[in-house]
Amino acid sequence: MSKETAQLIIDGTTYTLPIVESTTGEKALDVRSLLRQTGYITLDSGYMNTGSCESQITYLDGSKGILRYRGYDIEDLAANCVFIEVAYLLLTGELPTAKELDRFKYDMTRYALIHEDMIHFFDHFPPNSSPMSILSTMVGTLHDFYPEMDKEEDPYGGLTTTTARLLSKLRTIAAFSYKKNIGHPLVYPRADLSYCANFLNMMFDRPNMPYKVEPINVIALNKLLILHADHEQNCSTSTVRLVGSAGVGLYPSISAGINALWGPLHGGANVAVIRMLEGIYRDGEDYDKYISKAKNPDDPYRLTGFGHRVYKTYDPRAKLIKEVCQAVLETLNVTDPLLNIAQELEYRISRDDYFVSRNLYPNVDFYSGIIYRAMGIPTNMFTVMFALGRLPGWIAHWQEMNSDKESSRIGRPRQVYKGITNRPFVKIEDRG
Ligand code: ACO
Repeated sequence: MSKETAQLIIDGTTYTLPIVESTTGEKALDVRSLLRQTGYITLDSGYMNTGSCESQITYLDGSKGILRYRGYDIEDLAANCVFIEVAYLLLTGELPTAKELDRFKYDMTRYALIHEDMIHFFDHFPPNSSPMSILSTMVGTLHDFYPEMDKEEDPYGGLTTTTARLLSKLRTIAAFSYKKNIGHPLVYPRADLSYCANFLNMMFDRPNMPYKVEPINVIALNKLLILHADHEQNCSTSTVRLVGSAGVGLYPSISAGINALWGPLHGGANVAVIRMLEGIYRDGEDYDKYISKAKNPDDPYRLTGFGHRVYKTYDPRAKLIKEVCQAVLETLNVTDPLLNIAQELEYRISRDDYFVSRNLYPNVDFYSGIIYRAMGIPTNMFTVMFALGRLPGWIAHWQEMNSDKESSRIGRPRQVYKGITNRPFVKIEDRG
């Protein structure tokens, strides 16, 4: 707690509110005593300016384009780590030693299978079901197949059997949901493949056409998952914390997070970006049509993949993803007209005063879909890929929320009521 305080004057009475300071120097008004002291609540729709908790997991500075997990710059992590190493960091607070990483890799292999009875569930989803609905449903059912262990041994820091299971199994469920979606036989996880290579193999291996895992795809997937692994109190993470604060376990909380991520303003944006780029392509690259529509205040249309609630400069993840995108397409010798369209759109936006004055830059979703397309991952799986990446962040926040008395209070925002105050009840026979 900082020694500084803030004075709030309401109707001539001065109230003193504490100021709290983050480890990086940002200050916040602590309004927890406001209602008790003054009878007032704060109104902040969309939580634009509300800190919901204190957290030690991820730091971001949206004006400088800084993103750090547990103090490490995202650029260093993306350049030097594999995804599960970063998952380990998010969950335990420390990068693993070589021995710890080996153990964690072993756990990813050991827990990769899902109960055979769960596989029957896949059969009963209608054809063309959304892989996101399958994912959230299946994660919910893990609760029954693999009951969470309250008092399990803690093999390494914050890691438990339940978290290792969930991390490994989500990857299997994601790949199985794709195979079921296209009606192909399931491909089981292999013990000799790394986390990302295993996922790609489960997605693309076929009995008559064995899949060769391209090293560039493994590199790119590791980077993409790392760059999506956490992003402090975003919509889905806040959902995980809020649902978890009601006292439910990890699986239902994560299942709720998956549903929140699905939305086109959040994780679903990577799908919407591709649809938008395809639309521009079909319209003979009529950029002006799309840009004017997005700028029209009477039209709700937005250019998906631009803008971010927190970043008011270039999203550091988007910068790295753009580099990965170019590397993947070059190495795989893939030509995708959507990449040229994306680059041209970004160029035009960067010179358009409407977007410049509102600090609208490409976000994490703008180039990621083009990489997934080059890898052969279909559009309806993009948000599932995001969920795979975001899982360690969700779990870390759920754990942190549960371990801190203050932030594990049940989440319960207030409101400013604007409805009818009171009126006499009218019996049904008198209602006309
Ligand atoms: N295209 C056109 N105009 C935009 C866009 C956009 N993509 N994004 C914001 N604006 C405009 C708004 O119309 C508004 O203009 P105004 O001041 O004239 O009214 C101004 O910029 C500020 O926008 P807000 O809606 O206040 O910004 P907010 O922080 O609420 O929204 C959001 C952030 C939801 C990401 C928004 O930029 C958006 O809808 N982007 C497109 C969807 C998208 O890409 N989502 C993925 C985000 S990343 C993620 O979740 C992983």
